[in-house]
Amino acid sequence: MFLHLLEKGDLPVAGTPGSVIAIYPGSFDPITNGHLDLIERGAKLFGRLIVAVLRNETKEPLFSVPERVEMLGEVVRAYSNVEVDSFDGLLVDYVARRQASVILRGIRAISDYEYELQMALMNSRLAPGIETVFLMSSEAFSFISSRLVREVFSLGGRISGLVPPVVERRLKGRILGSK
Ligand code: PNS
Repeated sequence: MFLHLLEKGDLPVAGTPGSVIAIYPGSFDPITNGHLDLIERGAKLFGRLIVAVLRNETKEPLFSVPERVEMLGEVVRAYSNVEVDSFDGLLVDYVARRQASVILRGIRAISDYEYELQMALMNSRLAPGIETVFLMSSEAFSFISSRLVREVFSLGGRISGLVPPVVERRLKGRILGSK
C-alpha cells in the first residue's frame, strides 16, 4: 500500500530519457571503433551525449588533445545529440558543470571491471547524485584498445578496421610526413 509503484515513463535517474545528459569520458588516444560503437549506442539511450577528452599533461600522447577533439568531432558529426569537449580536474566536477547526471563507460572484459568499479565507486562517493552506466562492448570490438592500436601501428602492423578512417588517414599521414 505504501509502495510507490513506478508509473510507465518514470525513471530512477533524474529526468526522462530525452532529458538525461550523459558524459562519456576518456583519453581517446586514438579513438577506436570500440569507442565509436559505444557512442552510437549511448546516443540512442540519452538525450544528449558529451564525449569528453581528458586533458592530462603528464601522459605522453600519440595525438594532442586538440587533434583528438578534432577527429572525434568528425566521427560524431552524424549524431545530432552528440558533442565533443575536453576537460581537466575531477570528472565529477566537470559532469556537474555540464549539468549531466550520468557517466557512460564501456567494459570489454573482466580485466576492465576492477578499474571501472574503483572509479565508479570513487565517483559515486565524491558525487552521490551521479550514476555511472556501463555498456558491455560489442563482441566484434571487445579486443580493441587504444594502447594496442598505438603499439600495432608503431610496429608497422595493419590497423584498418580497428579505428575510424579519419584516424587511419592521420596515422598514415604521420608515417609519410616522417619519411
Ligand atoms: O580512457 P581512460 O584513460 O580509461 O579514461 C580514464 C578517465 C579519463 C575516465 C579517468 O582517468 C578520469 O576520470 N580522470 C579525471 C580525473 C578524476 O576525476 N579522477 C578520479 C576518478 S575516480
